[in-house]
Amino acid sequence: MTSTPPPTPPEAVPAHVAIVMDGNGRWAKKRGQPRAFGHRAGVKSVRRIVGECRKRGVRALTLFAFSQENWQRPALEVTLLMQLFLQTLAREIESLHKNDIRLRFIGEHQDFPADLRTLMRKAEKQTAKNKSLVLAIAVGYGGQWDIAQAAQALCREGQAITPEALESRLVTAGLPAPDLMIRTGGEQRISNFLLWQLAYTELYFCDTLWPDFGEAEFDRALQWYAGRERRFGRVPEGA
Ligand code: IPE
Ligand code: IPE
Ligand code: MG
Repeated sequence: MTSTPPPTPPEAVPAHVAIVMDGNGRWAKKRGQPRAFGHRAGVKSVRRIVGECRKRGVRALTLFAFSQENWQRPALEVTLLMQLFLQTLAREIESLHKNDIRLRFIGEHQDFPADLRTLMRKAEKQTAKNKSLVLAIAVGYGGQWDIAQAAQALCREGQAITPEALESRLVTAGLPAPDLMIRTGGEQRISNFLLWQLAYTELYFCDTLWPDFGEAEFDRALQWYAGRERRFGRVPEGA
């Protein structure tokens, strides 16, 4: 039996956790099932981790659900993913709202199905005043696109491109930078996730496939985070 690590002291809890939810396809393949089976199983992990974040006092959770590069997957997989987003959102919106969770959808959404876009806007509006947790879902998101669209906005307004101004136009504006990024599924890369925002984020990689990622795994990541010394370019305390 594996022992569960003790709970993380509250001061060491990251305010903002970002997750690259990877490994759904391989999880399904191991079971002789189509990739969409893994995506559906992945939704259960999302529900679990949202609950864990609320329980532990994490204030913001950003989940990478669909990258701009993911448009290049087979049309059937893309269609099934869009249907899954729509069904899941329609089913979960009330309980998210009841749990005081604020939803944000970050990314470029013009090529998304119209009914999904409408529901995303509705969910954002309905939950806009909620305070317990900001749940940002990155769909149609690309880190390079985000930086480019922020720069374009500043150009249009005739503003100077400073780091502060640029940051205020990123789609994550108003959220603190992630303290901890978790990537499941064994790959150690960013895959065009939050390129700007991850400048000083602690990066945690694990082999667990996303549908298998649960409370114990999340605890391990938080324990690891609690042990990091974040220096932000300075020398260690007392050095
Ligand atoms: C991540 O799982 C979910 C999405 C990109 C939508 P994958 O679908 O990339 O699963 P693997 O990496 O092929 O196992
Ligand atoms: C990253 O996973 C994107 C999401 C989890 C949504 P990918 O499976 O698309 O990344 P690569 O292709 O392995 O880099
Ligand atoms: Mg993958």
